[in-house]
Amino acid sequence: MLSIQNVSKHFDGITAIKDVSFKVEKEEIVGLVGPNGAGKSTLLNVVSGVYLPSSGSIIFDGTDITDKSPDKVCKLGIAKTFQLVHSFPELTALQNVTVGALFGSSEKINMKEARDKAEENLEYVGYPVDKINYPVKNLNIVELKRIQLARALATDPKLLLLDEVTTGLNPKESNDAVSLIQKIRESGITILMVEHVMRVIMNLSDRIVVLHHGEKIAEGTPEEIAKDEKVISSYLGRKTYI
Ligand SMILES: Nc1ncnc2c1ncn2[C@@H]1O[C@H](COP(=O)(O)OP(=O)(O)O)[C@@H](O)[C@H]1O
Ligand SMILES: [Mg+2]
Repeated sequence: MLSIQNVSKHFDGITAIKDVSFKVEKEEIVGLVGPNGAGKSTLLNVVSGVYLPSSGSIIFDGTDITDKSPDKVCKLGIAKTFQLVHSFPELTALQNVTVGALFGSSEKINMKEARDKAEENLEYVGYPVDKINYPVKNLNIVELKRIQLARALATDPKLLLLDEVTTGLNPKESNDAVSLIQKIRESGITILMVEHVMRVIMNLSDRIVVLHHGEKIAEGTPEEIAKDEKVISSYLGRKTYI
């Protein structure tokens, strides 16, 4: 479904990603891990069109999306949540998700349909129904993360890019997020996710790609990654993760 081919990204002087290649198959959950500054968020931003790669190419569902803008990439079926929660602070929860439904999908829909779709998606991600008309600036982190996810889902993605969705959540909230991600995958959506909490990534991922200083140092099943010497010395340490 997604093929990342020899992608590099430089920011004046800094090499954030260096010659990274890997694939994501349909209906897989692929975890992207690595220490802070490894280039994980940059890679998701390159895939979603936020950044143009310095070199390499990205093929999605047979289409070369390397040079495409974020709105075009989204319409082709890739939605992304941001590591920092980006929302329109003065708009309500419902309005925030309606924006996704109206502008993110390739389908043409009217305002009423967009609002219904937004409501449906907010319910799906477990957002409290009595708060759909609250301005998002009054909401807590769990609620904001749910809104983000609902907004991404309202664009009808085939591939969902998740950047640290469980960061800042307590263990119960984080378990809820894991169940929700499983439910999303079972609905037929493919997922590429960046995550720091190893328990989450080990439980959810079919495959894991490890980045270190912008380079891919390993790729494999959670079991393979947990015993990979390079990964242990540069990232995991000696603890057992499964
Ligand atoms: N917009 C940017 N401008 C300059 N440097 C950036 C920018 N975005 C990321 N970087 C740099 O790229 C490297 C990788 O960052 P990032 O992708 O955010 O890592 P991660 O998400 O793995 O923590 C870091 O050195 C970071 O400072
Ligand atoms: Mg990041």
